[in-house]
Amino acid sequence: MLLPASLALLLSLFGATVAQDTSLSAVKQAFDKANIPTNLAINFNPQALLQVSLPQPSAREITLSAGVQLLRNQTAGPPTFSVTGAAQTGLGPFVIASVDPDAPTPQNPTNAQIRHFLGGNFFLSSDRGGLLSNSTPAISGYRQPTPPAGSDAHRYIFLLYKQPAGFNQQTIVTPSTSIAGFNISNFALRVGLGDPIGGTFMLVAPQTA
Ligand SMILES: *[C@@H]1O[C@H](CO)[C@@H](O)[C@H](O)[C@H]1NC(C)=O
Ligand SMILES: *[C@@H]1O[C@H](CO)[C@@H](O)[C@H](O)[C@H]1NC(C)=O
Repeated sequence: MLLPASLALLLSLFGATVAQDTSLSAVKQAFDKANIPTNLAINFNPQALLQVSLPQPSAREITLSAGVQLLRNQTAGPPTFSVTGAAQTGLGPFVIASVDPDAPTPQNPTNAQIRHFLGGNFFLSSDRGGLLSNSTPAISGYRQPTPPAGSDAHRYIFLLYKQPAGFNQQTIVTPSTSIAGFNISNFALRVGLGDPIGGTFMLVAPQTA
Protein backbone atom coordinates (compact mmCIF):
# COMPACT_ATOMS: atom_id res chain seq x y z
CA MET A 1 0.00 0.00 0.00
CA LEU A 2 1.26 3.49 -0.87
CA LEU A 3 1.64 6.04 1.89
CA PRO A 4 0.21 9.49 1.03
CA ALA A 5 3.71 11.00 0.76
CA SER A 6 4.95 8.40 -1.72
CA LEU A 7 1.72 8.73 -3.67
CA ALA A 8 2.29 12.48 -3.98
CA LEU A 9 5.87 11.85 -5.10
CA LEU A 10 4.67 9.31 -7.65
CA LEU A 11 2.10 11.75 -9.00
CA SER A 12 4.66 14.53 -9.30
CA LEU A 13 7.12 12.19 -11.04
CA PHE A 14 4.48 11.51 -13.64
CA GLY A 15 3.70 15.19 -14.00
CA ALA A 16 0.16 14.69 -12.82
CA THR A 17 0.13 17.39 -10.19
CA VAL A 18 -1.32 20.77 -11.05
CA ALA A 19 0.25 24.08 -10.06
CA GLN A 20 -2.64 25.32 -7.98
CA ASP A 21 -2.43 27.79 -5.12
CA THR A 22 -1.60 26.10 -1.84
CA SER A 23 -0.84 28.96 0.54
CA LEU A 24 -2.97 31.94 1.57
CA SER A 25 0.11 34.01 2.38
CA ALA A 26 1.70 33.23 -1.01
CA VAL A 27 -1.50 34.34 -2.77
CA LYS A 28 -1.63 37.54 -0.74
CA GLN A 29 2.04 38.20 -1.49
CA ALA A 30 1.49 37.69 -5.22
CA PHE A 31 -1.47 40.12 -5.17
CA ASP A 32 0.56 42.72 -3.25
CA LYS A 33 3.58 42.33 -5.53
CA ALA A 34 1.38 42.85 -8.60
CA ASN A 35 -0.17 45.94 -6.96
CA ILE A 36 -3.66 44.46 -7.28
CA PRO A 37 -5.18 45.63 -3.96
CA THR A 38 -4.15 49.22 -4.77
CA ASN A 39 -5.22 49.10 -8.42
CA LEU A 40 -8.61 47.53 -7.63
CA ALA A 41 -9.12 49.52 -4.40
CA ILE A 42 -9.81 46.31 -2.47
CA ASN A 43 -8.75 44.96 0.91
CA PHE A 44 -7.30 41.55 0.12
CA ASN A 45 -6.79 39.23 3.08
CA PRO A 46 -7.79 35.83 1.70
CA GLN A 47 -9.40 33.30 4.05
CA ALA A 48 -9.79 30.61 1.39
CA LEU A 49 -8.00 29.46 -1.75
CA LEU A 50 -10.05 30.07 -4.89
CA GLN A 51 -8.97 27.52 -7.48
CA VAL A 52 -9.66 28.47 -11.09
CA SER A 53 -9.23 25.67 -13.64
CA LEU A 54 -9.14 26.10 -17.40
CA PRO A 55 -9.94 23.09 -19.58
CA GLN A 56 -7.41 22.32 -22.35
CA PRO A 57 -8.29 20.79 -25.72
CA SER A 58 -5.78 17.94 -25.55
CA ALA A 59 -4.09 18.15 -22.17
CA ARG A 60 -4.89 18.16 -18.52
CA GLU A 61 -6.75 21.24 -17.30
CA ILE A 62 -4.63 24.10 -15.98
CA THR A 63 -5.32 25.30 -12.43
CA LEU A 64 -4.02 28.82 -11.82
CA SER A 65 -1.40 29.67 -9.26
CA ALA A 66 -1.50 33.39 -8.48
CA GLY A 67 0.50 35.31 -11.09
CA VAL A 68 1.03 32.44 -13.53
CA GLN A 69 1.55 33.53 -17.14
CA LEU A 70 -0.48 31.60 -19.71
CA LEU A 71 -0.72 31.69 -23.48
CA ARG A 72 -3.98 33.16 -24.70
CA ASN A 73 -4.90 29.89 -26.38
CA GLN A 74 -4.79 28.17 -22.98
CA THR A 75 -7.48 30.47 -21.63
CA ALA A 76 -10.50 29.67 -23.83
CA GLY A 77 -12.34 28.30 -20.81
CA PRO A 78 -14.92 28.38 -19.50
CA PRO A 79 -13.22 27.95 -16.13
CA THR A 80 -14.42 25.78 -13.30
CA PHE A 81 -14.06 26.99 -9.75
CA SER A 82 -13.34 25.32 -6.45
CA VAL A 83 -12.46 26.38 -2.94
CA THR A 84 -9.89 24.71 -0.74
CA GLY A 85 -8.55 25.43 2.72
CA ALA A 86 -11.83 27.07 3.71
CA ALA A 87 -12.83 25.78 7.11
CA GLN A 88 -14.67 28.94 8.10
CA THR A 89 -16.21 30.26 4.91
CA GLY A 90 -19.38 28.16 4.92
CA LEU A 91 -20.95 26.39 1.97
CA GLY A 92 -22.25 29.44 0.14
CA PRO A 93 -23.76 31.08 -1.67
CA PHE A 94 -20.75 32.87 -3.15
CA VAL A 95 -20.22 35.45 -5.88
CA ILE A 96 -17.26 35.19 -8.26
CA ALA A 97 -16.01 38.14 -10.28
CA SER A 98 -13.17 38.41 -12.79
CA VAL A 99 -11.72 41.68 -14.05
CA ASP A 100 -8.93 42.99 -16.26
CA PRO A 101 -7.59 46.29 -14.85
CA ASP A 102 -5.08 46.67 -17.71
CA ALA A 103 -7.24 47.45 -20.75
CA PRO A 104 -6.22 48.42 -23.31
CA THR A 105 -2.70 48.54 -21.83
CA PRO A 106 -1.35 48.41 -18.27
CA GLN A 107 0.34 51.79 -18.90
CA ASN A 108 -2.90 53.53 -19.96
CA PRO A 109 -5.89 51.49 -18.78
CA THR A 110 -8.58 53.85 -20.06
CA ASN A 111 -11.21 51.11 -20.61
CA ALA A 112 -10.61 49.37 -17.31
CA GLN A 113 -11.85 47.43 -15.68
CA ILE A 114 -13.16 44.95 -18.22
CA ARG A 115 -15.54 42.52 -16.56
CA HIS A 116 -14.57 39.00 -17.66
CA PHE A 117 -16.96 37.13 -15.41
CA LEU A 118 -19.61 37.86 -12.81
CA GLY A 119 -21.84 35.20 -11.34
CA GLY A 120 -23.62 34.42 -8.11
CA ASN A 121 -25.31 31.49 -6.38
CA PHE A 122 -22.19 29.32 -6.24
CA PHE A 123 -22.34 26.61 -3.58
CA LEU A 124 -19.53 24.44 -2.24
CA SER A 125 -19.98 20.71 -2.56
CA SER A 126 -17.67 19.54 0.19
CA ASP A 127 -17.99 15.95 -1.02
CA ARG A 128 -16.60 16.82 -4.46
CA GLY A 129 -13.19 18.24 -3.66
CA GLY A 130 -14.50 21.71 -2.90
CA LEU A 131 -16.01 22.20 -6.34
CA LEU A 132 -18.24 25.28 -6.64
CA SER A 133 -21.37 24.77 -8.66
CA ASN A 134 -24.20 27.04 -9.60
CA SER A 135 -27.44 26.46 -11.39
CA THR A 136 -28.18 30.02 -12.47
CA PRO A 137 -26.75 31.78 -15.53
CA ALA A 138 -23.84 34.14 -14.95
CA ILE A 139 -24.59 37.86 -15.01
CA SER A 140 -21.53 38.27 -17.27
CA GLY A 141 -20.45 35.03 -18.89
CA TYR A 142 -16.73 34.16 -19.06
CA ARG A 143 -14.89 36.18 -21.67
CA GLN A 144 -11.53 34.93 -22.91
CA PRO A 145 -8.56 37.28 -22.42
CA THR A 146 -7.80 39.16 -25.63
CA PRO A 147 -5.15 41.77 -24.91
CA PRO A 148 -4.61 43.93 -28.02
CA ALA A 149 -1.51 43.46 -30.18
CA GLY A 150 1.42 45.45 -28.85
CA SER A 151 0.20 45.49 -25.26
CA ASP A 152 2.15 44.08 -22.37
CA ALA A 153 0.53 41.16 -20.56
CA HIS A 154 -2.69 41.99 -18.71
CA ARG A 155 -3.66 40.79 -15.25
CA TYR A 156 -6.88 38.73 -15.19
CA ILE A 157 -8.04 38.65 -11.61
CA PHE A 158 -10.63 36.33 -10.07
CA LEU A 159 -12.24 37.21 -6.74
CA LEU A 160 -14.49 35.21 -4.43
CA TYR A 161 -17.06 36.94 -2.21
CA LYS A 162 -19.69 35.79 0.24
CA GLN A 163 -23.04 36.49 -1.39
CA PRO A 164 -25.25 38.88 0.55
CA ALA A 165 -29.02 38.43 0.85
CA GLY A 166 -30.83 40.16 -1.99
CA PHE A 167 -27.91 39.83 -4.45
CA ASN A 168 -30.15 38.20 -7.05
CA GLN A 169 -32.33 41.32 -7.08
CA GLN A 170 -29.49 43.76 -7.81
CA THR A 171 -29.81 45.65 -11.11
CA ILE A 172 -26.54 47.63 -11.02
CA VAL A 173 -24.97 45.10 -13.40
CA THR A 174 -27.15 43.04 -15.73
CA PRO A 175 -26.28 40.94 -18.81
CA SER A 176 -26.78 44.07 -20.94
CA THR A 177 -24.46 46.33 -18.91
CA SER A 178 -21.25 47.28 -20.76
CA ILE A 179 -18.35 45.12 -19.63
CA ALA A 180 -15.96 48.10 -19.90
CA GLY A 181 -15.52 50.79 -17.29
CA PHE A 182 -16.41 48.40 -14.48
CA ASN A 183 -15.25 49.01 -10.91
CA ILE A 184 -15.37 45.86 -8.78
CA SER A 185 -14.80 47.67 -5.51
CA ASN A 186 -17.57 50.16 -6.24
CA PHE A 187 -19.89 47.30 -7.25
CA ALA A 188 -18.98 45.40 -4.08
CA LEU A 189 -19.75 48.48 -1.99
CA ARG A 190 -23.11 49.08 -3.66
CA VAL A 191 -24.38 45.51 -3.41
CA GLY A 192 -22.83 44.74 -0.01
CA LEU A 193 -20.32 42.07 -1.02
CA GLY A 194 -17.81 43.13 1.60
CA ASP A 195 -14.15 42.32 1.04
CA PRO A 196 -13.15 39.39 -1.17
CA ILE A 197 -12.48 36.21 0.82
CA GLY A 198 -10.29 34.62 -1.84
CA GLY A 199 -8.79 35.14 -5.26
CA THR A 200 -6.12 34.35 -7.78
CA PHE A 201 -4.92 35.76 -11.10
CA MET A 202 -3.16 35.01 -14.36
CA LEU A 203 -1.11 37.06 -16.80
CA VAL A 204 -1.92 36.81 -20.50
CA ALA A 205 -0.06 38.57 -23.31
CA PRO A 206 -1.28 39.12 -26.88
CA GLN A 207 -0.94 36.04 -29.08
CA THR A 208 -1.05 36.26 -32.83
CA ALA A 209 -0.53 32.61 -33.73
C1 LIG B 1 -13.61 52.38 -7.74
O1 LIG B 1 -14.51 52.45 -6.66
C2 LIG B 1 -13.88 52.68 -5.41
C3 LIG B 1 -14.95 52.57 -4.33
O2 LIG B 1 -16.07 53.33 -4.63
C4 LIG B 1 -13.18 54.02 -5.43
O3 LIG B 1 -12.51 54.23 -4.21
C5 LIG B 1 -12.18 54.04 -6.58
O4 LIG B 1 -11.61 55.32 -6.69
C6 LIG B 1 -12.85 53.69 -7.89
N1 LIG B 1 -11.83 53.56 -8.92
C7 LIG B 1 -11.89 54.23 -10.05
C8 LIG B 1 -10.76 54.00 -11.00
O5 LIG B 1 -12.81 55.00 -10.31
C1 LIG C 1 -0.97 27.60 -28.43
O1 LIG C 1 -0.02 28.38 -29.11
C2 LIG C 1 1.30 27.85 -29.01
C3 LIG C 1 2.27 28.88 -29.59
O2 LIG C 1 1.77 29.44 -30.77
C4 LIG C 1 1.34 26.51 -29.72
O3 LIG C 1 2.64 25.96 -29.63
C5 LIG C 1 0.34 25.58 -29.05
O4 LIG C 1 0.26 24.36 -29.74
C6 LIG C 1 -1.04 26.21 -29.02
N1 LIG C 1 -1.89 25.38 -28.18
C7 LIG C 1 -3.18 25.18 -28.47
C8 LIG C 1 -3.94 24.38 -27.47
O5 LIG C 1 -3.71 25.63 -29.47
